[in-house]
Amino acid sequence: MEQLDQTLAAIAAAETPDAVETLRVAALGKQGWVSALLKTLGSMSPEERQTRGPAIQAAREAVTAAIATRKGALESAALEARLAAERIDLSLPAPDAPRGSVHPVSQVMDELAEIFADLGFAVASGPEIEDDWHNFTALNMPETHPARAMHDTFYFPDHDDAGRSMLLRTHTSPVQIRTMLAQGAPLRIIAPGRVYRSDSDATHTPMFHQIEGLVIDKGIHLGHLKWTLETFLKAFFEREDIVLRLRPSYFPFTEPSVEVDVGFTLVAGKRVVGGDGDAPGGGWMEVLGSGMVNRHVIAAGGLDPDEWQGFAFGTGVDRLAMLKYGMDDLRAFFDGDHRWLSHYGFAALDVPTLSGGVGVRP
Ligand code: PHE
Repeated sequence: MEQLDQTLAAIAAAETPDAVETLRVAALGKQGWVSALLKTLGSMSPEERQTRGPAIQAAREAVTAAIATRKGALESAALEARLAAERIDLSLPAPDAPRGSVHPVSQVMDELAEIFADLGFAVASGPEIEDDWHNFTALNMPETHPARAMHDTFYFPDHDDAGRSMLLRTHTSPVQIRTMLAQGAPLRIIAPGRVYRSDSDATHTPMFHQIEGLVIDKGIHLGHLKWTLETFLKAFFEREDIVLRLRPSYFPFTEPSVEVDVGFTLVAGKRVVGGDGDAPGGGWMEVLGSGMVNRHVIAAGGLDPDEWQGFAFGTGVDRLAMLKYGMDDLRAFFDGDHRWLSHYGFAALDVPTLSGGVGVRP
């Protein structure tokens, strides 16, 4: 059957499912040539039908099979093409080794937050652009108070709507007032952040970092303060042999006020925190200011000082970082020199945890 050979060849060569369908209709459709042959069977003599019938049936089966085979082949080719087109190329070159590191100040702030979170302290914050009421007056430093002069304050030329002088906060202590007013008591917070003073030399920069601590509750006394600072400094320096020396001092916002020194030992000419500062070769280094919150400050925070007491402390984060990680020039903290940063910086994923050691070096 010449027509069969032609049809089979055409099906095998068909390039699209549509072309196969056209060939199917031409052979097996109502008007198709195979259907026409099948119709002739009825008018044949039985003998003729016996000889021609199987050939016609065989042609129909051959065409049907050829169509199924070709359709299957075209469909899997289409699928292959789609998979190839939609392939995600995972062989793209990887980026260069990641650059950048966590600044020691950020690292130390994270360490402090971790240590104090473990003691049940929440993190509070306040604005860097403050008014003089929050920065001074509410902290028991009225306008004529001599302590105001000690702060070398950066003032803005304009006042706020309430007529208050605006300034860059000189310490994190105004967050004490803001938090008492916003949250009431009892309270246990730390407030890390930037502070500003018009001061610049090897140990002072016009912007630096402090962390404030405030606990307000009933029956709080100096013993709570001492225990908290000792626990914090031991955890921070990761040493059990931290020795504190509390010296009576003066801050307008605390009464009594205590300055806290830690003992250090000289190791190869460097001060290493730990040990009794009075031991030979040792000394004392001031690390923080603290005290029992002054009654006037508690009242300015909207609380009754006969009901609530508390302690507060403040310390320089930059200084803590220098002491812990052995840096000796504060100005390098703010130079943005990437050699210094990659030497002293911390890996971004090196998040401080108490279990892992709060200050693991990269
Ligand atoms: N605000 C003080 C300073 O900047 C530190 C301090 C905070 C002292 C809280 C006592 C209590 O020097």
